[in-house]
Amino acid sequence: MRKLLTSQDGRFVVVNSEPEMASDLEAIQSAAFPTLAADELMRREHYLSHLRVFPQGQHAVMERASGKVVACSTDMRTRVDFAHYQHRYIEVVANNYLTNHDPAGDWLYGADIGVHPDYRGFGLSKLLYQARHNLIRQLGLKGHVAGAMPKGFGAVKDQMPIEQYVQKVVRGELSDPVLSVQLKRGYAVWGIMTDYLDDPSCGNYGVFIVWRNPGVRSW
Ligand SMILES: CC(C)(COP(=O)(O)OP(=O)(O)OC[C@H]1O[C@@H](n2cnc3c(N)ncnc32)[C@H](O)[C@@H]1OP(=O)(O)O)[C@@H](O)C(=O)NCCC(=O)NCCS
Repeated sequence: MRKLLTSQDGRFVVVNSEPEMASDLEAIQSAAFPTLAADELMRREHYLSHLRVFPQGQHAVMERASGKVVACSTDMRTRVDFAHYQHRYIEVVANNYLTNHDPAGDWLYGADIGVHPDYRGFGLSKLLYQARHNLIRQLGLKGHVAGAMPKGFGAVKDQMPIEQYVQKVVRGELSDPVLSVQLKRGYAVWGIMTDYLDDPSCGNYGVFIVWRNPGVRSW
């Protein structure tokens, strides 16, 4: 197993996921997305498909001392039409099998990132974003797009519309447990997607976010 990155304290490493990890990845997914509809959750069979379709795009974080898989991310290559960015999560990821992966796609599409709740706040998402950005640079892709889940919106949805919520998060007037994490990593908001997925924590909304590879012209 080749180490792609090591955390500063040496406790964690990022590697490419392997088929033997599929059950652990499923467990991280269930723990990380407790309010996502069951038919939108990735299961073992989906992770095995990702590894057949695009192994380079599948990352896992392992705790070195225990050998436990504690976080992971899922990506595929795609083409992006920024004038028509509205989409539904489950359709883009081909019912979570990732068979829409386009080997000639010039953008990376982030299907998910999840850190086990016991391992949050240790910088593991930062490590995973670094690994994904390194992959983008290696492949010469234009950048990374994803549908962020604004998970703090559900709690305040009666107080303001989604547009105002996202604007406040972008301005730093509100903190969102997901979107704020991604904005800190250099992502910009492109637009809001209605009926993106089935999860009350984000009012079913997705926020289309973009990170551009500084080494490649993206327009
Ligand atoms: C979002 C998630 C991946 C963050 O993972 P994490 O490993 O705990 O995050 P990190 O420790 O790497 O923190 C990265 C930065 O975000 C900040 N951050 C972390 N959690 C945060 C939160 N709940 N609210 C605001 N900021 C937060 C950290 O302070 C850190 O800031 P810094 O860059 O200034 O140091 C994790 O909470 C998770 O798995 N959530 C559930 C799954 C999910 O919703 N995934 C996203 C789908 S789009």
